[in-house]
Amino acid sequence: IREDNITAGGILMDNHLILAAGILGTTGASLNRMLSNGAGAVVTKSIGPSPKEGHKGPCVYVMDGAVLNAMGLPNPSSDFIEELNVLKDKPVIASIFGADPDEFHEVASWFKGKVRGFELNVSCPHAQGYGAQIGCNPGLVLECTRAVSRTGLPVWVKLTPNVTDIKESGIAAERGGASAVVAINTLKAMRISTDLRRPVLGNLTGGLSGPAIFPVALRCVFELYKALNIPVIGCGGVSSADNVIEMMMAGASAVEIGSAVLDRNDIFEKIAGDLYSEEGEKASDIIGCAHE
Ligand code: DOR
Repeated sequence: IREDNITAGGILMDNHLILAAGILGTTGASLNRMLSNGAGAVVTKSIGPSPKEGHKGPCVYVMDGAVLNAMGLPNPSSDFIEELNVLKDKPVIASIFGADPDEFHEVASWFKGKVRGFELNVSCPHAQGYGAQIGCNPGLVLECTRAVSRTGLPVWVKLTPNVTDIKESGIAAERGGASAVVAINTLKAMRISTDLRRPVLGNLTGGLSGPAIFPVALRCVFELYKALNIPVIGCGGVSSADNVIEMMMAGASAVEIGSAVLDRNDIFEKIAGDLYSEEGEKASDIIGCAHE
């Protein structure tokens, strides 16, 4: 495809490839490095209303083609804002979370003038009182989206696949004023150590990411594209230019990449190199074509 300056969900980006929330997103330096390494935009680690240490370990379990995590939304809260000083005028999206619409609005207000938009984390599968507890309730999704929309900046809502019908969450986000939805956050999962006879994660359950969940993410993007009038951003197991094209054919306007960055720091350059050429098709001719 051709590489033009692109806008997805109200946010101007350098290309269609975005660093997903939670991966190398805790410092200004690491976010900057991902932009230098070819990311078209970056999403921060999720920031919440008060400092949080996260779950007790083990927090990560790596398998062939998948990663299981239960970090527990560790973050320094408002202290994070100063990290953004080295990212002035760069395509940065703040991932934020809260327990209710007021907390979402408060956290969002700290970022005004420092980011291009927000990604609401209403979809962490293992955070008590936060995340999927909001994302599984369309009424709350609508209210939290509406609260952050009051900032006037674009609001993307990152949805959970751990629901019967993801379209209901997407429709709630759209009604609340979202400029895009992001599909998907991690899939609720677990492993047990047969040696230790106990779950491998300290939190017992966690969220699955990586190539294993790509077909689930693709199905969610396909369903949301059909049901919504706002753009859909694809996220979940993307690790190649082919995966990006497949996501676009399902309806993704842009694509987030997370776990694949853990394998190779230069994944954005690699995928961009395979994806873009002057003679390529326009992305807009590919996006959603699998629906025709
Ligand atoms: O899988 C996830 N892990 N999704 C989130 O939204 C948050 C993260 C964590 O911090 O546990």
